[in-house]
Order: sequence, then structure tokens, then C-alpha cells
Amino acid sequence: MNLYSELSPSPRTIMTPGPVEVDPRVLRAMSYPILGQFDPEFTALMNDTMAMLRSVFRTENEWAFPIDGTSRSGIEAVLVSLIEPGDKVLVPIFGRFGYLLQEIAERCGAAVVVLEKSWGEVYDPEEVIAAILREKPDLVAIVHGETSTGRIQPLEAIGKACRELDVLVVVDAVATIGGVPLEVDAWCLDAVIGGTQKCLSVPSGMAPITYNDRAERKIARRKSIERGLRQSGGDSSNDARQISPIRSNYLDLSQLQDYWSPRRLNHHTEMTSMLYALREGLRIVLAEGMETRFARHRLQETALVAGLQAMGLSLYGDARCKLTVVTCVRIPPGVDGESVRSMLLELFGIEIASSFGPLKGEIWRIGTMGYSCSRKNVLHLLGALEAVLVRHGVHIQTGAGVQAAMDIYCS
Ligand SMILES: Cc1ncc(COP(=O)(O)O)c(C=O)c1O
Repeated sequence: MNLYSELSPSPRTIMTPGPVEVDPRVLRAMSYPILGQFDPEFTALMNDTMAMLRSVFRTENEWAFPIDGTSRSGIEAVLVSLIEPGDKVLVPIFGRFGYLLQEIAERCGAAVVVLEKSWGEVYDPEEVIAAILREKPDLVAIVHGETSTGRIQPLEAIGKACRELDVLVVVDAVATIGGVPLEVDAWCLDAVIGGTQKCLSVPSGMAPITYNDRAERKIARRKSIERGLRQSGGDSSNDARQISPIRSNYLDLSQLQDYWSPRRLNHHTEMTSMLYALREGLRIVLAEGMETRFARHRLQETALVAGLQAMGLSLYGDARCKLTVVTCVRIPPGVDGESVRSMLLELFGIEIASSFGPLKGEIWRIGTMGYSCSRKNVLHLLGALEAVLVRHGVHIQTGAGVQAAMDIYCS
């Protein structure tokens, strides 16, 4: 007798900053039969995925492909391939995921210089540019959309300054790709990492990346050193003293790009079902149209914010740099935030997120991302949150939240 029941996850309304609900078309795509990784039918799907990623990243870069692993595998692949031990890396931090960039850069052996901003704010680009001029780093690593604080960092001026000063700039766009404008080429970003489980609404497990020829040149230099080392039996008494090989096999972009090139040099075994999912997810994004999709995210944010404020709740953070797809709400004084979240999940099947570090117990984070970013979800959440807050003794104006959101939809 089998002790385990058949898998039957409860249907949820997921209003977190990821993972979010997945379009049934993506789930269906994941159930198709496996193809061999060098089957021309499969490699054609890989090529489609690269082409669609270029469109979503808004780039002409040759290299745009997914890393097999969660978003941080993409970050780690880019940083371990671009940072040589001893390189100076500047990380302007304004939330939890800036610290992740710092940690990975340090593990790559970089001399890391950080800037730190109070949580809830972002940098005036001039502050970052002044730090670049002062510190003269080899590389700048920065987050675009910080899900821990719900803020968005303007990148265009920073990207252009880096290009002028010949500094590589790497961007964590895990939370923004497919939900808010991200212009890889126009903003002069050298390497960018996206996430699947947020605005692209594909399950977690792949990290789309793109990088340009400036980044590729550094990777290629390190690759030729590695080849030289192997041929000389590991003797590093030549050029290898100046340039060091990439210290990862799984995340070595020089090997991965050979696998994604027409040469198809074997590396790992591509994640067939995840590739189907990503391809379908990207197809859905492009079919909706990027501008239409951004407008949908803005509309749902406007309705959500109007509803929360009409209820009497206050938002966290500097409103001028609010990230469209993540809304941070202050937990009313005296209310147990975790009890509210549990009741939302248990009684209404709705999940919202708690928070990290200094914001723990202070705010809830509500995501309006991808397939989860819908009128139905916003209205359900507002109605449910009102009911749960009343149960927790909060004096709110009942009925006002849903009505305020309906005013936005019906205007
Ligand atoms: C901005 C940002 N960067 C990086 C990550 C790390 O992604 P993952 O958990 O998929 O490795 C996250 C995850 O929530 C994120 O929000």
C-alpha cells in the first residue's frame, strides 16, 4: 500500500513578490514529451527562446539564454565569469538583494566597495556616478527592482556613465523583467539577469541572462588562459599570472555560450521541461505586447494602492521610487502581521509576503506580477484583507477599499 496520497496542491491566489501564479498554458507546456537535447526540434526551441529573450531584454546582444538554476544562479554565473580575484567591484546597496550581490562578488575574490542607502530609498544616479569616479571599480553590480523594499533604481544614467568610463555594469533585473520597462541596450547595461518566477510567470528554476561583447571579451580572455593552463598541465608560469580562469564549471559562461551557440558543445543536460515553460512564458509576454503588459501592471498597482489607502492603511517607502510590481504596506500598530497572513491563506487561499531584516514585522509586501497581476486578484485581496483586519480588531472603513479599486477600474 502506498503511504503517500496523490499530489494535489491547493489552488492559491499568490500575491507575493514571487513565486507567482503560472499561466495554465505554461503548465501545459511543461507536460509535453521530452526531446533529446541535441534533437534539431529541441535546439530549434532553444533558438526561439534566445530570440524571444532578446526581445524581452530589448537587446541586440548575441548572448541571451537561461542559466539552469534559480535566479541567483544567473547572478552567480555572470559574476563568477566576469570577476577575477582582486578586481574592484562597487555595489550600491538599497535592500536585501544588494547584499546578495556583495556576498557573491566577495566569494569571487573581488575587493568589494559598498554604498549603503536607508531601506525604502534608492540612489540619485549622480551619487553612484560620483562613487564610480572616486573608486574606479572594474565592475559595478546593482539591483534594478528591490523586492525587499519595493523600490526601483533608475539605471540609464549609471549605465551610460559606466560605458563612458569603461566600467562593466551588471544588473539584477530578476523582479523587473517582463513587468516594468528594462532597456538593456539603450541604458548601456553590459550584463543583466532576469527571473522566471516573477513577472514572466514561469516556475522558479531558470535564470535568463544577457551580456554584450564588452562582457564577452573579458570572458573570452579568461577562457583562453584556462585552455593554456590545461595544455601546460596547470603550469601557471605564463600569462595566467595576470588573468585567472573562471572558477566554476557549472556556471562558466564561456562553456555555456558554446552550448547555446550553433556548435552545441556539450556542457550540462538542458532542462527540457523548464525550457518548454520559459519558451511558452516568453511567447505569452510577447503576444500580450510589452507596453500593454507594463500598462496592465501599472493599472493593477493603481487600483491596489487606491484600495489600501481608502481602507486607511499606509504605504512604506519613498513614493517617488516605488516599484510598480511590489507594494509594501505598513502593518497597523498592535497587529500581529503573521496572524493576518495565516488567516488570509487559510480562509481565503491568498498569500502575501512578510519581510526581511529591519522590516521584519513592520511591513507586508504585496506582489502584482505577471499572471497574478489581475483585477480579480486585486479585488479578492482587498475584500479578504478588509475582513481579516476587522477580525484583528483594526478600525478600518469597511467597504471603502474595494470601492476605491472599483472606481479605478470603472473610470
Ligand atoms: C531582486 C531579487 N534578486 C535575486 C533574487 C534571488 O532569486 P532566487 O531566489 O530565484 O535565487 C530574488 C528573489 O526573490 C529577488 O527578488
